[in-house]
Amino acid sequence: MSRQQIDIVDLIPVNTNTDNIIKMDEKRRLNNRYAVGEQLGIGGLSVVYEARDDYSEYYGDDRRLAVKLPLEHLSAKSDIDAFMYAEYAHLSRLSHPNIIKVIDFGIDAEFNIPYIVLEQLNGRLLNEIPLTQFSISMKWNLLYTLFKTIEYLHTQHIVHADINPNNIMYLDDESIKLFDFGISINLSKKQLFELDYNTIKAYNPRYAAPEVIQGDVPTFHSDLFSMAVVCFELYSGQLPYIERSTELFERPISLRDLKLLPFGLRRWFKYALSADPMKRNKSYPLFLEIKKYI
Ligand SMILES: Nc1ncnc2c1ncn2[C@@H]1O[C@H](COP(=O)(O)OP(=O)(O)OP(=O)(O)O)[C@@H](O)[C@H]1O
Ligand SMILES: [Mg+2]
Repeated sequence: MSRQQIDIVDLIPVNTNTDNIIKMDEKRRLNNRYAVGEQLGIGGLSVVYEARDDYSEYYGDDRRLAVKLPLEHLSAKSDIDAFMYAEYAHLSRLSHPNIIKVIDFGIDAEFNIPYIVLEQLNGRLLNEIPLTQFSISMKWNLLYTLFKTIEYLHTQHIVHADINPNNIMYLDDESIKLFDFGISINLSKKQLFELDYNTIKAYNPRYAAPEVIQGDVPTFHSDLFSMAVVCFELYSGQLPYIERSTELFERPISLRDLKLLPFGLRRWFKYALSADPMKRNKSYPLFLEIKKYI
C-alpha cells in the first residue's frame, strides 16, 4: 500500500501565537507511548515539546526526547501527515554528528495528528548568542563544521532549504547541530508532494538565496549561500546586504565589503555570496584553505 501522489501543500506559516498551539493539556501521551512534557520551542509551522518514551523507560533507558507537532491550524490539512513524514524520511537517511537524530514518526490514533520524535537538543539557538561570546577559534570551527555538515548533506542528495541561525543549536559542549528539516528536499527521489516554495515562504528570507526569494526551488547552491550568510554575520555582526539577498543582483559583493572578515576567507565569501548560483561553485576549492586556520 502506498500513499497517492498529492497536490501542492497549502501550508502557509503563521505568526506564532498561543492560539495556534495544539492543546497538549488535553493530550499528554501520544499513541500510548510518548509522554509529552514542557514546550521546548515553537516555529512558523510547528511546536516542539519535551518527551519521554515509555518503552525506553521500561528498559531503564531514560533518554530525553523531543516531539515535533504541526501547529493547530495546520493539523487539519489533508497533506500534513505527508509533510511531517517527509521531514522524518529525509532525516532518517542522515547520520552525522552535527545533524539532529530522528527517532520515530507516528500519527496519534486518537487525535489523528502526525508527530516526529527527535533527540532533545540542549543548548542555545545560534541567533540567541551575542557575538562577543565567540572567540576567533570558535568562529573558525563553527564555519568549518557548518561547511562540512552541508557538504555531507549534499552527498546524501538532501537540500536543507532553510539554513539560518534559528535552525542551528549551539550545544553546551560547544558543538553544533543543524535541525529543522521541515522544508528540505530529497533530490534522489520523487517527492511525496511538491511544496510550492513561491507561496509557502516557510524559509527565513534574511538568509535565503536571491533565486529562492524570486521563487526558484532551493538547491545545493542556495544552501551554500545561506550558510555563507550565517558565517558572514558571525564574523561581521551584520548581513551582507541591507535587507534581502536580491540586492546582490544590483550591487554584487566586493572585496571591500568583506573587510571585516578574516583575510584568508574573503575570496571564499565573495564567491559563496554570488547572486549567480553557478559562480558559487568557485568557492569550493577555496574552502580547503580554511584548514590552515583550525
Ligand atoms: N530537538 C529539539 N530539542 C530542543 N528544542 C528543539 C528541538 N527541535 C526544535 N526545538 C525548538 O523548537 C523550535 C521550533 O522548531 P523547528 O525550527 O524545527 O520548527 P519549525 O516550525 O519548522 O520552524 P520554522 O519557523 O523555522 O519553520 C526551535 O526554534 C527550537 O527552539
Ligand atoms: Mg525552525
